[in-house]
Amino acid sequence: MYWSFFYKILSLIDPETAHNLVIKIIKNGFLPKIKTKSIPLKVMNIKFENPIGLAAGFDKNAQTIDQIHKMGFGFSEVGTITVFPQEGNPKPRIFRLPEDKAIINRNGFNNDGLTLIKNRIKNFRKKNKFSNIKLGINIGPNKDSIDRIKDYTKLIHEFAKYADYLAINISSPNTPNLRKFHSDKNFKNLIISIKKEINKLNNCPPILIKISPDVSNTELKKIIKETVKHKLHGLIISNTTIKRNVKSKYKKETGGLSGEPLFEESTKVLIMARKILNDIGSHISVIATGGVHDGKSAYIKILCGADLIQLYTSMVYEGPFIVKNILDQLDRFRKRDNIKNWEDVKGLAKSIDEAYKIVENGLIKKS
Ligand SMILES: Cc1cc2nc3c(=O)[nH]c(=O)nc-3n(C[C@H](O)[C@H](O)[C@H](O)COP(=O)(O)O)c2cc1C
Repeated sequence: MYWSFFYKILSLIDPETAHNLVIKIIKNGFLPKIKTKSIPLKVMNIKFENPIGLAAGFDKNAQTIDQIHKMGFGFSEVGTITVFPQEGNPKPRIFRLPEDKAIINRNGFNNDGLTLIKNRIKNFRKKNKFSNIKLGINIGPNKDSIDRIKDYTKLIHEFAKYADYLAINISSPNTPNLRKFHSDKNFKNLIISIKKEINKLNNCPPILIKISPDVSNTELKKIIKETVKHKLHGLIISNTTIKRNVKSKYKKETGGLSGEPLFEESTKVLIMARKILNDIGSHISVIATGGVHDGKSAYIKILCGADLIQLYTSMVYEGPFIVKNILDQLDRFRKRDNIKNWEDVKGLAKSIDEAYKIVENGLIKKS
């Protein structure tokens, strides 16, 4: 009850100040432990308590990993982390669009940098040896780096030991030219260097590429072909969009749009990615991100091919019980549709309309 009051207060404060306040509050343990349904699953050979994770950007500096677990998340992706600390773009750089249940941000990788964050994660690992939360570490280059590929490989080298998976962010719209890594030649060069770095390490966790929802089908095909060819583990679909299908007065602000208006865009890319993978007879893991806000939207992502799901913006609007609510609603769908194993329905829908129909009418099993 007091959380809903607290959330109302937060919505009146400037978004970045509110965010920093929330980080401070939860870091100091002022958060109830929320009991959630367990949906254990294994993806990329990693055991997750449930498929719902916190997307990158919320805990940029790895300050609240255990507290995120208390909220019920099965995994958390910290970052984006760069080699050197970075201020990011001038403020204001985060805008709430409540009538669209969306956010526009143009943060520009503001973070504490490799050295400090690595120490924090090391301490977290030391103190929480038996914690079940899985940790993704999301990495990217400094804005003015003269060799961006070298930044990625250095960060892989430094974080490989501490991550359950590494996310290579090539899709933030707020670092100039970063999205050029989606083009064939640049992507190939990046993947070849990443592969070389992996080969130097004794142990490397799964590596996933976080892509843009604004990617063209041609680019997507090439990205998938190279990812599969070099045996990387998967994709995160997707980051924020530069498109604007929103009503808010802030729609002209530059930056990446997240939340409900991103749901269909990112799900279409997810469907296309699964189709391309089926066509080449390959399977890699996909974490689906973008506009997930309830059990229905989470179920649609699974039907369209998600192995795991992440969210960020809906937590800003719905509060800390979001994971519990999604898992409860997913469980109701599981019972209604007689699903023994979520894996059985993954990728069952070939279009977003088909997925909506299943969610509305239930799963009619073909005999
Ligand atoms: C304020 C804010 C900051 C973000 N920062 C990052 C980031 O540093 N790195 C990243 O890969 N994604 C970042 N994202 C994108 C999210 O991880 C996610 O991909 C996107 O918001 C879509 O999910 P959602 O609709 O559930 O929010 C950020 C999103 C928001 C709203």
